[in-house]
Amino acid sequence: MTQTVLITGATDGIGLALAQIFAKASARLVLVGRRPLAETPAGRLFTPATYCQADLSRPGAADVVRDFCRLRKITWLDLLILNAGTGYVGPIAVQTPESISALVAVNLKAPIALTQALLPVLETAQGKVVFVSSVSSALPTPDYAVYTATKAALEGFARSLRVEMGDGPGGRIRVQTLFPGATRTGLHAKSGVDQAQMDWTKFPPAGQVAAQMIQAMYDDRPALALGLGSRLRRFAGRRLGGLVDWQMRRRAR
Ligand SMILES: NC(=O)c1ccc[n+]([C@@H]2O[C@H](COP(=O)([O-])OP(=O)(O)OC[C@H]3O[C@@H](n4cnc5c(N)ncnc54)[C@H](OP(=O)(O)O)[C@@H]3O)[C@@H](O)[C@H]2O)c1
Repeated sequence: MTQTVLITGATDGIGLALAQIFAKASARLVLVGRRPLAETPAGRLFTPATYCQADLSRPGAADVVRDFCRLRKITWLDLLILNAGTGYVGPIAVQTPESISALVAVNLKAPIALTQALLPVLETAQGKVVFVSSVSSALPTPDYAVYTATKAALEGFARSLRVEMGDGPGGRIRVQTLFPGATRTGLHAKSGVDQAQMDWTKFPPAGQVAAQMIQAMYDDRPALALGLGSRLRRFAGRRLGGLVDWQMRRRAR
């Protein structure tokens, strides 16, 4: 049976790569992004039938997405991939209140609101909601503090939701959090990273990370870091906290 898959942040980076893979597998797609349809990537992926324009930093964005699904008679959602994200890199002392609000709105409030708005169609399908966090959520990340806080909070929400929904056989829905590591996407430039300071060749491309994510979605574990490096970093951040903080302080100096 055709899978119905909704992906947020589908116009760029990992979300776009996920959409391309699911399209090849003939899934019925709902793709959410903030830019107008005319500015979405070329090709047959983005059409009025598949593309929902919604700025997730705005209140009411989840209603826009729910109404889009209703209008297209989507009563059944197998997979809700909450991938859209935004970043900011720089000292907290100079981060503007607008930037802080945008990060919290897109990275945390929107996934919560979308989960709530789409719960009925997810439950009909006994579907799965996948939260895209970041391996940085388990680590101290100077200059990324708000970004990291939103990603850590997302994990907290997902953990409680999973228990509330009775995840497992016979549960209402399944819940999973995925933790990618640094990936070669436009997110870094959009966040204000000095590109010259970054060794892009070290990062895997979005297509590779998207393929790892889809693999991870077949796994029933509630929280999975993608790739060996991310698994080691997440393990160190969670189990060797003091040591990792000390090392990061030395590096920051
Ligand atoms: N790249 C990494 O190194 C990395 C590492 C760990 C975790 N992650 C996480 O992975 C996810 C995907 O990141 P990415 O690297 O693929 O980033 P990306 O290339 O910048 O793509 C992010 C997507 O989210 C959309 N988005 C941003 N703000 C939005 C808003 N207000 N309303 C609606 N959509 C919005 C973007 O739309 P536009 O195209 O209009 O900007 C884009 O489609 C994010 O949650 C990110 O935090 C990324």
